[in-house]
Amino acid sequence: MNIKTALVSAMLAAVAIADGNSTSSVPSSCSIKAKSTATQQSDLDKYSGCETLVGNLTISGDQLNQGALNGVQNLEGSLTIFNATTLTQFNADQLQNISHSLNLQQATQLQTASFNALQQVDTIEMIALPNLNNFVTNLKNASVIYISDTSLQTVHAFEELQQVKSFNLNNNKLLGSLESALKSVEDSLEFSANGNNSNVTFDHLQWANNITLRDVHRASFVSLEKVNASLGFINNSIDALNLSNLTSVGGSFSVVSNNQLTGVNASELKSVGGGFIIANNTRFKKIEGFHKLATVGGAITVVGNFTDLDLASLKSVKGGGQFETNSGNFSCSSLKKLQSQGGIQGDSFVCKNGATSTSIKLSSKSSSKKSSSGDNSKSSSSSGNGSSKSSSFTRSSDAVKTASADASKSSGSSSKTASNDDNSKSKGMAAAQFAPVGSLIGALGAVAAALL
Ligand SMILES: *[C@@H]1O[C@H](CO)[C@@H](O)[C@H](O)[C@H]1NC(C)=O
Ligand SMILES: *[C@@H]1O[C@H](CO)[C@@H](O)[C@H](O)[C@H]1NC(C)=O
Ligand SMILES: *[C@@H]1O[C@H](CO)[C@@H](O)[C@H](O)[C@H]1NC(C)=O
Ligand SMILES: *[C@@H]1O[C@H](CO)[C@@H](O)[C@H](O)[C@H]1NC(C)=O
Ligand SMILES: *[C@@H]1O[C@H](CO)[C@@H](O)[C@H](O)[C@H]1NC(C)=O
Ligand SMILES: *[C@@H]1O[C@H](CO)[C@@H](O)[C@H](O)[C@H]1NC(C)=O
Ligand SMILES: *[C@@H]1O[C@H](CO)[C@@H](O)[C@H](O)[C@H]1NC(C)=O
Ligand SMILES: *[C@@H]1O[C@H](CO)[C@@H](O)[C@H](O)[C@H]1NC(C)=O
Ligand SMILES: *[C@@H]1O[C@H](CO)[C@@H](O)[C@H](O)[C@H]1NC(C)=O
Ligand SMILES: *[C@@H]1O[C@H](CO)[C@@H](O)[C@H](O)[C@H]1NC(C)=O
Ligand SMILES: *[C@@H]1O[C@H](CO)[C@@H](O)[C@H](O)[C@H]1NC(C)=O
Ligand SMILES: *[C@@H]1O[C@H](CO)[C@@H](O)[C@H](O)[C@H]1NC(C)=O
Repeated sequence: MNIKTALVSAMLAAVAIADGNSTSSVPSSCSIKAKSTATQQSDLDKYSGCETLVGNLTISGDQLNQGALNGVQNLEGSLTIFNATTLTQFNADQLQNISHSLNLQQATQLQTASFNALQQVDTIEMIALPNLNNFVTNLKNASVIYISDTSLQTVHAFEELQQVKSFNLNNNKLLGSLESALKSVEDSLEFSANGNNSNVTFDHLQWANNITLRDVHRASFVSLEKVNASLGFINNSIDALNLSNLTSVGGSFSVVSNNQLTGVNASELKSVGGGFIIANNTRFKKIEGFHKLATVGGAITVVGNFTDLDLASLKSVKGGGQFETNSGNFSCSSLKKLQSQGGIQGDSFVCKNGATSTSIKLSSKSSSKKSSSGDNSKSSSSSGNGSSKSSSFTRSSDAVKTASADASKSSGSSSKTASNDDNSKSKGMAAAQFAPVGSLIGALGAVAAALL
């Protein structure tokens, strides 16, 4: 029986019972009256003769210490444990299927929840179970899994699960390692705040709609080929990221604030549909794992202390570029060349190393610009380097002139970059609308000449 069939039959059965109709295949003793709550073991023992139980079972109250649902194999409805303030242990070890949800919430003393035979459930929600350290299932099919604020250290509950819609583990402060057999995630896979020593292994995962990992110590996704929407690694203590089978990300790809990160291998990644953001990964000096990346649908942002950036295949960026490093060794010349050839489109382009900076702002409405030398004291990102120079170039309908860059503006998000004059009003406009290719290249030639 699949989830939908079970759901439909549960609803039919529930309706039939509500009507007082005895034609249902389930005896009425095996149907749960709406709004009834089990508060002691005898309430649960009433169902021990029911292979199939229909209805929503809720367990609550302050009388039950150890609870067990014996005999029931199939629950056509939901099982909820809510505000069972004294419950320390719950077992339902014959239960194989739950058609709706398994919902455990606010059972502050609960330490063990055992569902040894549970194969199929639609939704698992476990919230505010601060003492729960043992949760067991034999799950093969589930749609939604959400686990928050437990004391689980390892989860032996999802080892056979191959596909889900969403999977979210957060605030499980003791979570150590998690190994998953998931092959696909139709919606989102999210990890956050699970303690800073958690290692997650998703080596069978081939695709997911989106993935966000935060506060993870180690992550492995060796089979991941495609992320339909976004992929983000934020604020982790991961030192190396192996995404060697990843070919495309449909939305944005972010690697931000991972202070231990020294390497990413995404050597098959060819396209990113949204933004491509590598920022604030303090130790990520050699950004070399992206040498097949060819197209970026949004903006490309690479900010940090990098000395090397290998984007050898990059040929099309639609949303502008921001490249900023404190290292003086990094050369902007190939990126500038790509931009001058139209490979990086969008309304702003900034490339800055510890020594120089190029900002290009493309706009239509501007009559005159001043030309002056850079004032480096304003540049926060180069303040550690007394010899750094910063220049900005504005393309206007009349002329291209140099002006002093206000780095405090150009160090923010790319939508604000390079706006060192009154052209900021027109920054939403696309380059191609006003700049004939020839004059743009000419302007960039002047930029290059001025800098080199
Ligand atoms: C539970 O669901 C599985 C898969 O749909 C099915 O094979 C099995 O017979 C069901 N078990 C019970 C007790 O209904
Ligand atoms: C249950 O999962 C298995 C793989 O683990 C899959 O083949 C099967 O189609 C799933 N069944 C349902 C009802 O989703
Ligand atoms: C029970 O269901 C049958 C057929 O589904 C229907 O004919 C009958 O009227 C129902 N009885 C009650 C009491 O609803
Ligand atoms: C069980 O709860 C679900 C939603 O929470 C509801 O749709 C369904 O009708 C309930 N079933 C019964 C038998 O009360
Ligand atoms: C939880 O149960 C206690 C009694 O055990 C009761 O006083 C309290 O109001 C309940 N809280 C909720 C949110 O139901
Ligand atoms: C996670 O992996 C690291 C080594 O990479 C190890 O030192 C640490 O103990 C692991 N954490 C757990 C909870 O197993
Ligand atoms: C991990 O968290 C603990 C306590 O929450 C803290 O003492 C420790 O410094 C953290 N380690 C890292 C590497 O952040
Ligand atoms: C996942 O992707 C969808 C678009 O497919 C988006 O609407 C949703 O907000 C994303 N969720 C997360 C957590 O990123
Ligand atoms: C990576 O992809 C290739 C080709 O698609 C496949 O043969 C290989 O098994 C994959 N590697 C892993 C670790 O999944
Ligand atoms: C995501 O991509 C996979 C693999 O190409 C595809 O099977 C799936 O239908 C896509 N999912 C969505 C929500 O677009
Ligand atoms: C990087 O860090 C700086 C300074 O803390 C911050 O302003 C900026 O927003 C960060 N960038 C990203 C992409 O998080
Ligand atoms: C560059 O490295 C220094 C020290 O190594 C660190 O303080 C700074 O935050 C880093 N900057 C970025 C943008 O990662």
